[in-house]
Amino acid sequence: MYFGKVLGTTTEDNQVLIKYEQQEVIVQVITEEIVRLFVPCWMKEYESVAIEGEPAVPCDFDVIEQQGQVQIKTPAVILTLGDDFKFVFTDKYGDEILSSYDGDRKKYEALSEEDLGLVESEGHQMAFMQKEHVVQQLFKLNSEDRFYGMGDKTGFLNKRGYAYQNWNSDIPQIHHENMPALYKSIPFVIGKGPGYTYGLFFDNTFHSYMDMGKESSEYFFYGADGGNFDMYFISGEKIPDVIEHYTYLTGRAPLPQLWTLGYHQCRWGYDSAADIRDVAMKMRQHQIPCESVQYDIDYMDGYRVFTWNEEEYGKKGELISELEEKGFKAICIIDPGVKEDKGYFMYDQGIKNGYFAKDKDGNVYVNTVWPGKSVFPDFGREEVRQWWANNHLKLTDMGVKGIWNDMNEPASFNGPLPNDVQFSINDRLTTHEEAHNVYGHFMSMATYEGMAEITGKRPLVITRACYAGTQKYAAVWTGDNQSVWSHLQMLIPQICNLGMSGFTIAGTDIGGFGGDTNPELLVRWVQAATFCTFYRNHCAKGQLMQEPWQFGEKVLDIYRKYVELHYRFLPYIYDLLFESQITGLPVMRPLVLHYEDDENTFNLNNEFLVGENMLVAPIVEQGVTKRLVYLPAGNWINYWTKERITGNKHIIVDAPLDIMPIFIKEGSIIPMYEDVQYVGEKKYDKLKLLVAGDCAWGSHYQDNGEDFEYMDGQYNLYSFTYENGQLDTDMLHEGYEKYNSIEVELI
Ligand code: NOJ
Repeated sequence: MYFGKVLGTTTEDNQVLIKYEQQEVIVQVITEEIVRLFVPCWMKEYESVAIEGEPAVPCDFDVIEQQGQVQIKTPAVILTLGDDFKFVFTDKYGDEILSSYDGDRKKYEALSEEDLGLVESEGHQMAFMQKEHVVQQLFKLNSEDRFYGMGDKTGFLNKRGYAYQNWNSDIPQIHHENMPALYKSIPFVIGKGPGYTYGLFFDNTFHSYMDMGKESSEYFFYGADGGNFDMYFISGEKIPDVIEHYTYLTGRAPLPQLWTLGYHQCRWGYDSAADIRDVAMKMRQHQIPCESVQYDIDYMDGYRVFTWNEEEYGKKGELISELEEKGFKAICIIDPGVKEDKGYFMYDQGIKNGYFAKDKDGNVYVNTVWPGKSVFPDFGREEVRQWWANNHLKLTDMGVKGIWNDMNEPASFNGPLPNDVQFSINDRLTTHEEAHNVYGHFMSMATYEGMAEITGKRPLVITRACYAGTQKYAAVWTGDNQSVWSHLQMLIPQICNLGMSGFTIAGTDIGGFGGDTNPELLVRWVQAATFCTFYRNHCAKGQLMQEPWQFGEKVLDIYRKYVELHYRFLPYIYDLLFESQITGLPVMRPLVLHYEDDENTFNLNNEFLVGENMLVAPIVEQGVTKRLVYLPAGNWINYWTKERITGNKHIIVDAPLDIMPIFIKEGSIIPMYEDVQYVGEKKYDKLKLLVAGDCAWGSHYQDNGEDFEYMDGQYNLYSFTYENGQLDTDMLHEGYEKYNSIEVELI
């Protein structure tokens, strides 16, 4: 991109147009804290997918032109732009936060053809191929800069020193730490250095690249294969402020139904009604609380979406209602690929109405997925989404309560679809190259809207692929992980980073999806996932069975203990999700989110907070029964031993197989529910308060856990104060039936 000298500016409403000799730049003041820096090098009237509606609010800002520079000053941020698109963002005091890097990219010495051949002949791959991108921006990197967020990317909490790509990818192999991309594209990063915090959101759906200081220790960069340079600079005093502002822009996860947060069991390979029934019965028999035994692809008739395999799964609706009586809710997988099959209603309707994506020559595009030859709905068109949404009636009529969207990168058995297949974005026809990363987004949107309309309940949609902003429509899981310790270790940074990127409802396949799990790994996994907002054991066909009872009594007992613990803490998790509507903050948080000036938290990959008041330190290494735990400032109470420990130090904690260290912050009150086998088994009319310390405070949210009535004020908001041995309850809002009893447990 060439800019040249600044020629002048024009300001209209909240927009400043800066004319450069060779380019136009638009600075849009969205709020005092969010400034969009937009170079329309591709399309000026760009309509975002991630950002819906009009987020810009009227705000005061000054535009000052001086000595060839333009300064745009909001009460929180100052952006100075100079010739050749040199820019600096400073805080309101003029202290630098972020600036463009004005040098060139470092040159790598390319390997000769001969050397490259040699490297490849032993099966090695070049991890890195340097390339200049059509859209590219370098930023100055300071020695202490760290990076968080970026969605589901592999590796550690802090992304400094790693390079990633945004290109939704179906990766069934082990997800190693420097994998360029997984299933999701969330081009949002939180930058943190001494005395400054900011967020950057690059709103561009083309294949993009984020090198966070791998190529050079002097700069980090963003690049894309197409589209505009469309960057939102998000300021905030602290990390939580940046998350709040980012989720203001791209949206927040709506409050889910309470039961969806419970435990789920799944396996690709429960091939019949008998299999599902057997697992469901064993769940109750072994008293493992459980909400659903999920229906993977085999429940369909020949993998035709919106059909039912009556041969193996019995008459439509029968198994579902049989299990519903026992408290199980049906959740069915739905893939985007529609079987190419004349006479099959989905195919016929889609063909008749022109709903499927076409190749560059205008023929319906066909590729292979589970049903064999399949065609792909063009979800970027409203009409197609409406059609897809309406079809959910076929499932809800059978009693289905939740939908699991898979393979929506979109994946195929022949690798990624060609770039020139024609898909739409917001009803604008474009190519797969631009639409790939938002295919899962539009599919989730269709599913969410269909389920909300049909059921009137808060929809449970789980998606594998998504883009920034999909959090408004779907929960996510991290795709096909493997039964290896490194995947369990990754759970913590991956879920924390997804959470810091707006995805508060997320989980990984407990036990690992691919490969054979083992008793110790399974136990440590169900423990580490205790506070995940999507809590599911899932495994692939052909792997060792990994239901909780597969490895003997001891494993079963520990497994039950943690699933029960998850259920007891459900009101706390639900409270945090309520809070998240306002703040965008996740349930599982890295310590750095609340202790960002404490350098012990900067790279802490193996502990996390639940809200602000619980600290969890799972065992994620084989054979380990003791571990080092860092407790930040404050006093912490060991949940198991009730020992009170002053923080700001490392301690060694015992963690035999049945113990995952948990600490409660002194001064807090945590709400808990009694044991149930599933949400809805009995009315939650008793609340227990875990009171940590002699003087404590906490709040709690309560509603019917199902529909949208809370939006009309049908909820309770309690404020609890515990002092001098007495609990005081203040109703901050009263609009729902209150608990019969509130009991205090002091720790
Ligand atoms: C891939 C998904 O990631 C996995 O969870 C699912 O079991 C299989 N597809 C089969 O549907």
